[in-house]
Amino acid sequence: MDEKYKLVYQKVEAMASMEHDPIANMANIAALLHETFGWWWTGFYRVQGETLVLGPFQGPVACTRIQFGRGVCGTAWKMRETIVVPDVEQFPGHIACSALSRSEIVVPIFKDDVVVGVLDIDSKELSAFDQTDAFWLEKIVALL
Ligand code: SME
Repeated sequence: MDEKYKLVYQKVEAMASMEHDPIANMANIAALLHETFGWWWTGFYRVQGETLVLGPFQGPVACTRIQFGRGVCGTAWKMRETIVVPDVEQFPGHIACSALSRSEIVVPIFKDDVVVGVLDIDSKELSAFDQTDAFWLEKIVALL
C-alpha cells in the first residue's frame, strides 16, 4: 500500500511541478488514483460560496452540489479534517450518489488555511480506507 502511494505521490509531484492549473491537476490526480487503486468513485468537489460543486472525477455520474455541513463531504469541509467512513450506512446524513458505495474517505484541501475543496473516494467494499490512506491522500492533495 505504501509503495503504491509513494509512486503516485512522486507522479503527482512531477505533474504539479509542470502544470499549475488546479483543474487539470485534479483531473489527472483523480485518473491516477482511480486507475492505481481500482476504487468505485474518485473525484473532487470545489468550494463555491456555501456549496461544494462537482469537479474532475472518475467513476459513475455523481451529485453535483453538496451544502456546507451536509453528507460526508460537507462535514469534512465544516470540520476541516479527513473523515474515514468504514460503513456509509452508519454515517448519519451520508449522501448516496451511488447505491453501490459501501465505504468512503473525504480529505479537505486547504489553501492559505481555508478549505477550497475536498477529495472524495468511494469503494464498493466495506472498510476500504484507513489512516494510511488518510496520510497519503492528505500529502497528495497538498501538492495541488
Ligand atoms: N457520499 C458523499 C457524496 C458524494 S458521492 O459519494 C460522489 C457524501 O456523503 O458527501
